[in-house]
Amino acid sequence: MKLFAVFGNPIKHSKSPIIHKLFAKQTGILQNYIKINVPINFFSKSIRNFFQNGGLGANITIPFKKEAYKICDILTSRAKYSGVVNTIKITSSKKILGDNTDGIGLLKDLKNLNFITTKSNILLLGAGGAAQGVIYSLIHFGCNITIVNRTYQHAKDIVRYFKNIKKINYLKIEDLSYHSINNINYDIIINATSSSMKKKIPNIPSSIIKPNIFCYDLFYNKGNTPFLKWCVEHGVKNVSDGTGMLIEQAAYSFYLWHGIIPNTKKIIRKYI
Ligand code: ATR
Repeated sequence: MKLFAVFGNPIKHSKSPIIHKLFAKQTGILQNYIKINVPINFFSKSIRNFFQNGGLGANITIPFKKEAYKICDILTSRAKYSGVVNTIKITSSKKILGDNTDGIGLLKDLKNLNFITTKSNILLLGAGGAAQGVIYSLIHFGCNITIVNRTYQHAKDIVRYFKNIKKINYLKIEDLSYHSINNINYDIIINATSSSMKKKIPNIPSSIIKPNIFCYDLFYNKGNTPFLKWCVEHGVKNVSDGTGMLIEQAAYSFYLWHGIIPNTKKIIRKYI
């Protein structure tokens, strides 16, 4: 049977094996998809072992996405620009091909939810690997992005990766209040910080929250994340966590490996 895996640390709670099992059942493709918990300094060694032992492709998750980028021989353009890789496959000439399906997965979910248009003004919270992984697809779609991060320098650094594609604004958190006073409004606020994992919310002023905006958290858990709860408390009607994105990014990985895109709507409905 064809062998695929998700590599991460920790990996115990990953939902990817269940999602890929549902895709395989739906499309009639026989594949074995396993979880591999990788010791922190052994990422490239364990990937090499996996491919030597017949593995055909893998998903890469926290904290190895930047390292995965470095071990690839060939990159898709969305992986090249984002600087992080979440999907790899071995080609017929035994080269490692790297892709990033997080950004396109997020975009697909935002479209499914009717949260996004090509003209959307997006406020992106965070400037770590998660933010970096989704920017390319959003600007490629046409959206304008403003980044705000707890550490201003990190926001400044991340913007440089995309300077040849589109200008991305970046602000200090303090400047957000000034923005709302001057009626600079955002259509979507996306939380790409890891704050929800720590049950915290990014320290942003509530004045930027307007009832008609859309709020999205890349993180997912049962019920709303702390950030989404805070948005709802401040009057936002349309919020979503990252469950749909998780399923959509998996579908694009499945497509890279098998050339078939699964029907994600049926699977998303099972989860929500
Ligand atoms: P990942 O690769 O998952 O994005 P990361 O690279 O550690 O993880 O980045 C985490 C992001 O979440 C960073 O933007 C971080 O802000 P700093 O650059 O200031 O470190 C942000 N972050 C984490 N906890 C946060 C919190 N409690 N409030 C606001 N931002 C937070």
